[in-house]
Amino acid sequence: MAGKVHVVDHPLVQHKLTLMRQRDTSTSKFRDLLREISMLLGYEVCRDLPMSLVPIETPIAPMMAPMLDGKKTVIISILRAGNGILDGMLEILPSARVGHIGIYRDPKTLAAVEYFYKVPDNMGDRDAILVDPMLATGNSAVAAVSRLKLSGPRSIKFVCLLTCPEGIRVLHAAHPDVDIYTAAVDERLNEKSYIVPGLGDAGDRLFGTK
Ligand code: URA
Repeated sequence: MAGKVHVVDHPLVQHKLTLMRQRDTSTSKFRDLLREISMLLGYEVCRDLPMSLVPIETPIAPMMAPMLDGKKTVIISILRAGNGILDGMLEILPSARVGHIGIYRDPKTLAAVEYFYKVPDNMGDRDAILVDPMLATGNSAVAAVSRLKLSGPRSIKFVCLLTCPEGIRVLHAAHPDVDIYTAAVDERLNEKSYIVPGLGDAGDRLFGTK
């Protein structure tokens, strides 16, 4: 089974992404835009969330009405830039549980090293949405999904703002069962593993660290 890529090409998403890409966009504006765009990406990601009918009473009559089974969703942020998407997602899924994964690449061995992992209990009952703004080489995404699978969530979706053919290829070669949701698939990676044209370092732009 080949993994799917869902490009959210809604005009509001594309407009906000263009503002985020621009080098002169300030840190505070970048942060606001990432939160807004993450809500819109989240809207698409949640399209097939499980629902159940519950009895309610309107002022006119009783009825069985659909409600989200929101507590079953867990949003997992890949530190640190994933936290920018997490904030927006939580605005539309306030009951979701949250987990964090910290992974860095050892500069000598190039192996993915985990420095933090904390997820809620009962992962076997939960659908996981893994978030990281940039799916670039795909290496940390593969490591994060592999680690998350050890906790056994019911399903995993990967949400990013931007990706490129290399990142998609690497993630889907390792995890074809994980659908990718993104606002755009850019041209390529450069020699420093930045997405081109991209938007630069998402973490630095989000937190103002450069
Ligand atoms: N991470 C980023 O923040 N930007 C890129 O272009 C690639 C990886």
